[in-house]
Amino acid sequence: GPALVQEEVAGANLDELRAKAASCTRCDLYRDATQTVFGEGPKTAEVVFVGEQPGDKEDFAGRPFVGPAGKLFDRCLEQAGIERDECYLTNAVKHFKFERRGKRRIHAKPNKGEIKICAWWLAAELRLIRPRLIVALGATAAYSLLGPQVKVTRDRGSMLRAAIGPPVFITIHPSSLLRVLDQPMGQLEVERFVDEMKCVSSFL
Ligand code: URA
Repeated sequence: GPALVQEEVAGANLDELRAKAASCTRCDLYRDATQTVFGEGPKTAEVVFVGEQPGDKEDFAGRPFVGPAGKLFDRCLEQAGIERDECYLTNAVKHFKFERRGKRRIHAKPNKGEIKICAWWLAAELRLIRPRLIVALGATAAYSLLGPQVKVTRDRGSMLRAAIGPPVFITIHPSSLLRVLDQPMGQLEVERFVDEMKCVSSFL
């Protein structure tokens, strides 16, 4: 598990870690996904954002947060004065999990086993980057980093601590904003998320 010394990657740097993750078969999600979508950003980043898993666009591009949720996330970061390029962006689960509906690939939620298995890679990334702050974007990231006691709706906006490592700021996943954008309260939800990103930036 992630708490154990990661002997397999003990001497690896971030690029070597990425190369090893490209051939990961630790769980079954590699079978249907196009490729591993590893984290991206400077190895000296002060903040690491952790999403859920790559989406359809990310799966093809091989990069995190380049689809619709990523574009909305970019705009929110910009409004909060956070430079995306200065942050490290990664996911709790590094392969796209989906169900086929005809030609479409519909996002499927990673299960607890998949999240726990992939937490091994997240732990290795965090061990190398050693950020000052981690931001958990949504329930999957929060579960991966802190376990089942976190409730995003209750705990969002607060700073929690794991047994080791830097504080973890809890917030929602930007894809949840996509679903409310056209609703009356949607813009308020976006503003609340931007305010949370400003809170993150004030810690840096
Ligand atoms: N949603 C995520 O959680 N991660 C991505 O990389 C893209 C969308």
